[in-house]
Amino acid sequence: MVTIALDIPTDDSGHFCRFVLLPLSAQAKGEPSGPKIVTSVIPGPKTRAGLQDLDKLQDTRAATMMTDLDKSIGNYVADLDGNIFLDLYCQIASLPLGYNSKALIEAATKPEMVQMLVNRPALGVQPHSTWAKTLQESFMSVAPKGLTQVFTAMSGSDSNETAYKAAFMHYQRLKRGKDGVVTAEELSTCMKNIGPGSPDLAIMSFDGGFHGRLFGSLSTTRTKALHKLDIPAFSTWISSPFPSLKYPLEKYQGENDKEEARCLAVAEEKIKQAKTKAPIAALIVEPIQSEGGDNHASPKFFQGLRDLTKKHGILMIVDEVQTGVGPTGHFWAHEAWNLTSPPDIVTFSKKFQAAGWFHRSELRPDGPYRNFNTWLGDPVRAVQAKTILHEIKSKDLVKNAAETGAYLKKEMFGIQSKYPELISCVRGQGTFIAFDLPTSDQRDLFVNTLRSLGVNTGGCGSLSIRLRPMLVFQKKHADVFLDAMDKAASCHQHKTK
Ligand SMILES: Cc1ncc(COP(=O)(O)O)c(C=O)c1O
Repeated sequence: MVTIALDIPTDDSGHFCRFVLLPLSAQAKGEPSGPKIVTSVIPGPKTRAGLQDLDKLQDTRAATMMTDLDKSIGNYVADLDGNIFLDLYCQIASLPLGYNSKALIEAATKPEMVQMLVNRPALGVQPHSTWAKTLQESFMSVAPKGLTQVFTAMSGSDSNETAYKAAFMHYQRLKRGKDGVVTAEELSTCMKNIGPGSPDLAIMSFDGGFHGRLFGSLSTTRTKALHKLDIPAFSTWISSPFPSLKYPLEKYQGENDKEEARCLAVAEEKIKQAKTKAPIAALIVEPIQSEGGDNHASPKFFQGLRDLTKKHGILMIVDEVQTGVGPTGHFWAHEAWNLTSPPDIVTFSKKFQAAGWFHRSELRPDGPYRNFNTWLGDPVRAVQAKTILHEIKSKDLVKNAAETGAYLKKEMFGIQSKYPELISCVRGQGTFIAFDLPTSDQRDLFVNTLRSLGVNTGGCGSLSIRLRPMLVFQKKHADVFLDAMDKAASCHQHKTK
């Protein structure tokens, strides 16, 4: 068993505190050759008992597993009962390098990391001496073209919301003009939550889009009523239809062009109409609507959107919270669109283990403290992001996602043609792949069957199963999944006959 001990000074008295970092034993053993299911039902008895125990303190009704992190390794996750699953859901698409990644464990033991863990800075008021370097070596080294600034945040929702605030401040600044002064009326009315200080401005999103669950972000989320019910919302924030292509883009011959043109025309009409009521400061769009059901659109649609935003002077926010950091076979999914000019804002989280958004310097507020909070991100997560990037670059993991994804999708087309009444719409970019079942119930059952065969996946939209493997997912892992998918399809086909 490998353990790492680390001595760090506790204060300036010369005393040291010894940190013993726990076993790398799982790491040393490496990944299993495949899943292992040891209980007759899933979740098994220990997992159920563990969840019941936790439920005394927290709602566990959405939990499908209780993870044994000591025994989880690479692409495989273990539960309390000793079942081992190939994980293609990966903590809601957020794991980049696999369980107990050697690189991340090593990074966790470095003095730089320990210092950030024990001295969490309030980055807006007292940034530490190495913060700029960490930003350069992490986020900025992969900043989308043309975006020279990064705002660090705490979650995907927080990233989107702080980006919306920047869009509104920018809009008002342009409206006031170069020498524009904020009026006394604006200052007093904003304290009463009314205009003109709290202006009627809007963010436009798309039907089926998901942008988070905090107050502002939830007003742009358009997936399920369950997420929005009972929560006050910005009623003037409108949404527009998304073309929702459920077809592999590489086979696309323009079949959805008409629908894409219609969606663009509707969006433009809505932008125009909003001008007199609650003008749109920005629109937000996902490269692939993920929670909404893995809905795609062609690059032409996104090019059209970019042109619309330019024409009407509104900002384009691309939400790469789920698509970003490599899984689509591009570091950023929007790189595949070939836009005439870069998006104004790109938000990220999940696979970076850190959150934030990239932007141009004009989008800084006109004064300090205007887009602000206590921590403004987390240097611990930024150091992790740096490590993740190092692994991605040194192991060519974006290319791996493109190649493994191409293989996986090709084989999935084969399974789709074997079970045409059951499986449809195999689609995806890189390993960011999904397929559909005929009904929601059949989809849910299929997820359960896959789990009983040792593969953990998740649903999205009403009919889809989404694959969100880690960047270290390889052909051998794809083969394990394909075998389980074939078996599950055969079993379900049998049942429905
Ligand atoms: C595209 C997208 N945007 C935003 C979010 C919200 O992120 P978080 O749950 O970290 O707030 C998610 C979460 O799934 C997402 O998929």
